[in-house]
Amino acid sequence: MIPAWLVTVPTTALLFLFYVTFYHDMEFAMWMYRPDIVDANGRVRDLQELGRHFRDGYDFIVVGAGTAGCVVANRLSEVKGWKVLLLEAGRDETVVGEVPAMMTTYQTTTTDWMYKTEPDPGYCRGIDDGRCIWRSGKVLGGTSTMSAMVYTRGNKRDYDKWKCMGNDGWSYKDVLPYFKKSEDMRIDGLRDSPYHGIGGYVTLEEYRYYSPLIKYLFKGIEELGYTLRDINGESQNGFMHSYGTLRNGFRCSTAKAFLRPVRDRPNLDVSLESHVESVIIDPLSKTAGEVVFVKRGYRYHVSVHKEVIISAGVINSPQILMLSGVGPAKHLKELGIYPVISDLKVGDNLQDNICASGIVYTVDAPVGTTLLNFLSFSGLSDMLFNSNGTLMGIPAAHGVGFQSSSIADSPDYPDIKHYLAPMAENTEGGVIFKYMNRFTDSFYNKVYKPIAFKDSFMTWSCLMRPKSRGYLRLRSRNSTLHPMIYPKYMTHPDDVKVLVEAARFSGKLSKTFALRKIGAKLNPNKFLGCEHLEMMSDEYLECSLRTYLMSLWQFAGTCKMGPATDPDAVVDPRLRVYGVRGLRVADASIMPNIITGGTYAPCIMIGEKVSDMIKDDWHQHFYNQSFSG
Ligand SMILES: Cc1cc2nc3c(=O)[nH]c(=O)nc-3n(C[C@H](O)[C@H](O)[C@H](O)COP(=O)(O)OP(=O)(O)OC[C@H]3O[C@@H](n4cnc5c(N)ncnc54)[C@H](O)[C@@H]3O)c2cc1C
Ligand SMILES: *[C@@H]1O[C@H](CO)[C@@H](O)[C@H](O)[C@H]1NC(C)=O
Ligand SMILES: *[C@@H]1O[C@H](CO)[C@@H](O)[C@H](O)[C@H]1NC(C)=O
Ligand SMILES: *[C@@H]1O[C@H](CO)[C@@H](O)[C@H](O)[C@H]1NC(C)=O
Repeated sequence: MIPAWLVTVPTTALLFLFYVTFYHDMEFAMWMYRPDIVDANGRVRDLQELGRHFRDGYDFIVVGAGTAGCVVANRLSEVKGWKVLLLEAGRDETVVGEVPAMMTTYQTTTTDWMYKTEPDPGYCRGIDDGRCIWRSGKVLGGTSTMSAMVYTRGNKRDYDKWKCMGNDGWSYKDVLPYFKKSEDMRIDGLRDSPYHGIGGYVTLEEYRYYSPLIKYLFKGIEELGYTLRDINGESQNGFMHSYGTLRNGFRCSTAKAFLRPVRDRPNLDVSLESHVESVIIDPLSKTAGEVVFVKRGYRYHVSVHKEVIISAGVINSPQILMLSGVGPAKHLKELGIYPVISDLKVGDNLQDNICASGIVYTVDAPVGTTLLNFLSFSGLSDMLFNSNGTLMGIPAAHGVGFQSSSIADSPDYPDIKHYLAPMAENTEGGVIFKYMNRFTDSFYNKVYKPIAFKDSFMTWSCLMRPKSRGYLRLRSRNSTLHPMIYPKYMTHPDDVKVLVEAARFSGKLSKTFALRKIGAKLNPNKFLGCEHLEMMSDEYLECSLRTYLMSLWQFAGTCKMGPATDPDAVVDPRLRVYGVRGLRVADASIMPNIITGGTYAPCIMIGEKVSDMIKDDWHQHFYNQSFSG
């Protein structure tokens, strides 16, 4: 007789097992055949593993070896006389994570901070506990190591607006040189563009795999009247094949780009698994003096002579500030954090680019978007031996482009971003996506299970300039507990309006000749809780958004940059924390307004720019020459 478990173990569990096995096979094969990607001797090493000790003090301590932090550590240690310590809570990047399609392996594991928002009936109703999942990298390179790597800088006007708010030095004209400084554009046709740089640390390439379906999607895009162009160039109005921070087709995090080449600098120490608790600020002189962190069970106090730069990301930078006595005085007192060094609106102004997603169109053509196309041994051998094939692409974002809603500020300032995705929540049958994004069973089973494994496409159609503002607060004085996150999505009616318009885009695309030809059909299963509403009506779309929206995890704004006259500002336009000496913040949290694009490229720019400001302030520009090698 056939044992009962054989019948009841669902396909998804077997596939999941296969996925895990595949991971280990891949890791093993990469060590065998791709020592260039494993790069065992070129990686960044922890100072204690190198047999060294913390020094008596450092000129600069950078907290967080993330997207911006790696840039800052590199640029500051260019000055030979400066001793720099870089502290990172996570460990080194994984080998498998260098393969673009394996990006999800960084999620929901030890390399992910795994934040969840506080429950709110206004959103994430279809997610377990009603809490949205927020991802952020806890690994060398930070979120640049787990991201989809799509390089989008934002609109010129985003930066001009920052300048208009009183942030001198942050207009588009001012920041463009910093985008170009770190860039090594490797795509033919863009190398000569006045908007791109060559020879910098970060290599930009096209992904080496785009699903065959993308051709149809781009034909549809052209039918709708959009131009194909470099959306990081003269104008944002149009679409392009995504390009990203890739090197020879593999991931190029900021750790790979900025730290590995300078790992032997004698004045740069990197300490991994070092969870920073707080910065000790002298209450009389209000000067940052020591950084306190816990590493492998031991607590360290390391002193700093010049400055601490906090680059711990949009959630953790405000957390560290608050634990150091910098934040809303009332809140800090309630938690017993004394003394309050500087009463500032740390944790406010939280913004996120949320997307209408999960509106799925099935197609009749076999277009290589399902799980088994990715987890195939032919894909593995293509990757290993030719650096090509299905594993070298990120199907969630094969194409990217912009659209203006009916309430956009001006025609050259679009407020919706679309990712074109030849895959969807159903295409891998609930093996990865459902589990990662914690869909409730009832939601998944109702909406996606009936079309599981079918070839499909969707767009992630995202609100670029939200008017709603969220905030975060400490849960406790215990630095290992995550802050409480209140995104307050869609509390402004304009956000709902733009998102509903955005959500209609994939429907328009599905009706183009190019997509009708391959039988594009809307998933007929209505969203859970929205069955009573007319399919695709405004009310239905709003309801579907409140059941399930996708964050691109490009949040920003919690340590707002602004002039001294701005009561909400936490840092000044040179990113110095108000009311404290020797303390700056440099990461996505300083953005006064989130930008019309992705946050990754701007974080590199912010790292470059703050480094130059620091060098200026300490009159060290003279010494800016790099070490060789
Ligand atoms: C899955 C995913 C995909 C994404 N894809 C894209 C994309 O394709 N394009 C795009 O533009 N944007 C993308 N983003 C967003 C973008 O990558 C991030 O906004 C950006 O990288 C944030 O950079 P950061 O410097 O602010 O922080 P991070 O890069 O997150 O760096 C913070 C660092 O500080 C460390 N740290 C935090 N707290 C402490 C502590 N207490 N002690 C010590 N160290 C600490 C963290 O471990 C981390 O290394 C994506 C985000 C995610 C999660
Ligand atoms: C990968 O590259 C090899 C060798 O250059 C080529 O023969 C093969 O067709 C390529 N495969 C794909 C899927 O592009
Ligand atoms: C902080 O929280 C962690 C996780 O809950 C716990 O293990 C630890 O004991 C707490 N520390 C203190 C000082 O309470
Ligand atoms: C760095 O120094 C060189 C001269 O060595 C100078 O030309 C360059 O402008 C400096 N860079 C910056 C960003 O100031």
